[in-house]
Amino acid sequence: MSKFTLGKGNSGWWDGAIGYEVYIRSFADSNGDGIGDLLGLVSKLDYLAWLGVDLVWVSPFYPSPMADFGYDVSNYCDVDPIFGTLEDFDCLVAEVHRLGMRLLIDLVPNHTSSQHEWFVDSRSSIDSDKRGFYHWRDPSQNGGPPNNWVSHFGGSAWTFDELTEQYYLHLFLPEQPDLNWNNPNVVKEFDNILKFWLSRDVDGFRIDVAQGLVKNMLMADNPLRFPLHKDMSPREIFASYDHRYDLDQSGNIEIYQRWRKVADENDALLLGEVYLRDNDPNKVSRYVASKDSLHRAFYFAPMHVPWSPEPMWDTFRDALDAAPEDLSWALSSHDDPRAPTRFGGGKEGKQRALAYSVLLLFLPGLPFIYQGDELGLESILVKPEDQADPVALRNEDGSDGRDGARSPIPWHVGENFGFSTGKPWLPMGDRSEEETVDSQKFDEGSTLFKYKELFQLRAERLDPNSQLKWITSRDSSVIAFTRADIVCAINVGEQSEKLKLGKEMSDIKFSVGDAVVSDGILELGLASAAIIMSGV
Ligand code: GLC
Repeated sequence: MSKFTLGKGNSGWWDGAIGYEVYIRSFADSNGDGIGDLLGLVSKLDYLAWLGVDLVWVSPFYPSPMADFGYDVSNYCDVDPIFGTLEDFDCLVAEVHRLGMRLLIDLVPNHTSSQHEWFVDSRSSIDSDKRGFYHWRDPSQNGGPPNNWVSHFGGSAWTFDELTEQYYLHLFLPEQPDLNWNNPNVVKEFDNILKFWLSRDVDGFRIDVAQGLVKNMLMADNPLRFPLHKDMSPREIFASYDHRYDLDQSGNIEIYQRWRKVADENDALLLGEVYLRDNDPNKVSRYVASKDSLHRAFYFAPMHVPWSPEPMWDTFRDALDAAPEDLSWALSSHDDPRAPTRFGGGKEGKQRALAYSVLLLFLPGLPFIYQGDELGLESILVKPEDQADPVALRNEDGSDGRDGARSPIPWHVGENFGFSTGKPWLPMGDRSEEETVDSQKFDEGSTLFKYKELFQLRAERLDPNSQLKWITSRDSSVIAFTRADIVCAINVGEQSEKLKLGKEMSDIKFSVGDAVVSDGILELGLASAAIIMSGV
């Protein structure tokens, strides 16, 4: 079915692929409980194949108390009944493959659920066999937490456990205790987990919190980079520290080198979520540079960059200088506001998001869109009483809540927009008929059709190994480059712009907004983008 990847650097069947993130709870519900599930996803695979998706990444579906909606796993080798059964999973894999696509599952190795049997055992006694699976420490001399580390989700990263009078570490919720990756038994358990899913034919793993697994065991305080003040959100507080002891430790790479051998034997992809708040591409590139660790690393700066030429230039130039081939980027995700919302909302936000997709898709890199991006969906406003995300609920003002981007997909008009016959677990927002899949599928001018066209053009015309050459520079608000015989250009500035191309470049293959080419001059209106090829 595919090329074997050994000895090919980080290359593989994923070169040139387009990824699609499915947040399973919000995609499609097959049994009317208001929560999306595996069979719901199976029922929509033909839609993804029609759209031109190559690689489906599905968010965690394992048994979980759902404190973080599945990112708190209580058994790594099964399916939560809310999502279905292992047989449903096998059916998903088979159908994805039958339709010519690949399946990436979400592996959550940084932490388990506090209800995982390892943690239940570990917590039961200082002498438990599993005590060393997690990070337990005595209180500091003043009786407080062992150090100043903070949780991504607010508050200290340590929780005191009365029973054994020690603290345990959790970089996320107290219900998500961090595993101790310096313990060889943890390493062995995960070898088996990887093999379990590979033997069920998955095509690879998206590795959650890939920057976090190994901790510096001296557990010194993280220095502050900026002073804290009381109005800061948990995200801002987390970003105020220099995470030199809890994140991005060199031992992470050794774990991925170990997994890489197994992955390569199975022709599987290792894609890490390397979420480093300072967005330094040189740090992220270390995870892929040696070509024997992760195949691809998600780089998140493109998901946060404002619509403005200079920051955009810096983001992509720095990233591609640091890792010219092996980064991955997403337009939106289940953790952040949707792209059209981030780019200002309304018609303008939608057009900008589509234009930006042209850039993300034609730059080197493994691009992902998030379910609903192809419909131009904006994040919805979730009322305080409907909030479900623990990040929102743990913080008085609901700041940083992720529910707005997780609202279910509107499939067609009618009850709950065809997502579920039961009450959806999150509100669907006041979506219009034009936003639904069914309406856009029959409208050739729709955002959905544009994405389909763009995906097709990329698949047919872009050689994934072609070199990038910038043809404008940082002083220009048009970001433009060539790859082989293709020119890609996007106008991020505040007025129409002209760009001189060769006279033969006369064929606009795809455009967003106003784009015309005549006599070798490309004119791009506001928030416009184009792919141009030679007309001869
Ligand atoms: C990742 C996931 C996020 C989750 C967190 C903790 O960042 O994308 O949704 O809350 O890890 O597992």
